[in-house]
Amino acid sequence: SPMEKHEDDDEDQFDEFYKKLPKKQVAGLMLAQHKGFWYDEPILHGVVTFQKHFESQDSDILLATMPKSGTTWLKALTFAIVNRSKSEHSISESPLLFQNPHQLVPFLELDLYRGGKLPDPNMMITRPRIFATHVPYQCLSDTLLSNDSKSPRIVYLCRNPLDAFTSLMHFFSQNGALPADDETSALEEYFGAFCEGFSIFGPFWDQILGYWDASLKNSNKVLFLHYEDLQRDTPSSVKKLAEFLGCGFSQQEENQGLVEGLIKLCSLENLKNLECNKEGDLHLVHTIKKSTYFRKGKVGDWVNFLTPSMAKRLEGLMTEKFAESGKNV
Ligand code: A3P
Repeated sequence: SPMEKHEDDDEDQFDEFYKKLPKKQVAGLMLAQHKGFWYDEPILHGVVTFQKHFESQDSDILLATMPKSGTTWLKALTFAIVNRSKSEHSISESPLLFQNPHQLVPFLELDLYRGGKLPDPNMMITRPRIFATHVPYQCLSDTLLSNDSKSPRIVYLCRNPLDAFTSLMHFFSQNGALPADDETSALEEYFGAFCEGFSIFGPFWDQILGYWDASLKNSNKVLFLHYEDLQRDTPSSVKKLAEFLGCGFSQQEENQGLVEGLIKLCSLENLKNLECNKEGDLHLVHTIKKSTYFRKGKVGDWVNFLTPSMAKRLEGLMTEKFAESGKNV
């Protein structure tokens, strides 16, 4: 059919394009560089398809993160905040009790546009639409970057790279992405490469600084949050998030304990123990066990994983990369 022909052409075009990109092999992973950032081949196919075809709407909300920076939590909180006044979204009946946050708030490049496919236009009819991405700010599609008053709101959640790297390695390990016979040397190789900027959606500092810069230039469009702040004082962060999204909590809602209710609904403890998050897989380019999105959720867990010399190297790198920009991660 003409449709299949079109997809084959697209496939060939992507293959041609991919072949010409700079490559870097890191342990079992082949990375390719596109516009200054690194991806594996299947993820990159989703990235370029999203860049080419995604058209945002004024009311859209885009959640952006580096992998393992608390994306799942941000998805759950945003979904709960934005939909809270709909009757079918009361805390006791929330869709979050029956579906994984990644099913309720899809990734653009890892889900909707993965492998070069285009999303069904009939999906996501409820407004506002909430999407997520790990794609750097510099590489988002044009309609997302236009700074007019109608462009979508973007929320970026940043996490200390030491914890994010630690979380990523556990995630790889739990999803069978590290060689069972030689995990330690693979970890060391991933660590060295991470510090040199060779990681998926990395260099991590350029990804973080892109959103940081955008949040300074355009603070009503880009909100920059820290995982550590969210952990330390969840109610303040949740209220700030709601206000930024144009749906701040009313005094009455606060008096009713709605903020605490939503926080409890989205807590690691609650989500982790739900049937919908314990069993089954998600097909986000790679096959991921749903349960692996929920681990410890601790700030500073890197001390149990990185050696002091690894920590020193990464901390030094952060100081160097972020100091000159004034960004204090
Ligand atoms: P750890 O591996 O340090 O425990 P992402 O959602 O971006 O993939 O990041 C996953 C990290 O966020 C994991 O960190 C995970 O435990 C933590 N996390 C997942 N859900 C959370 C929640 N509801 N509250 C706090 N942290 C959460």
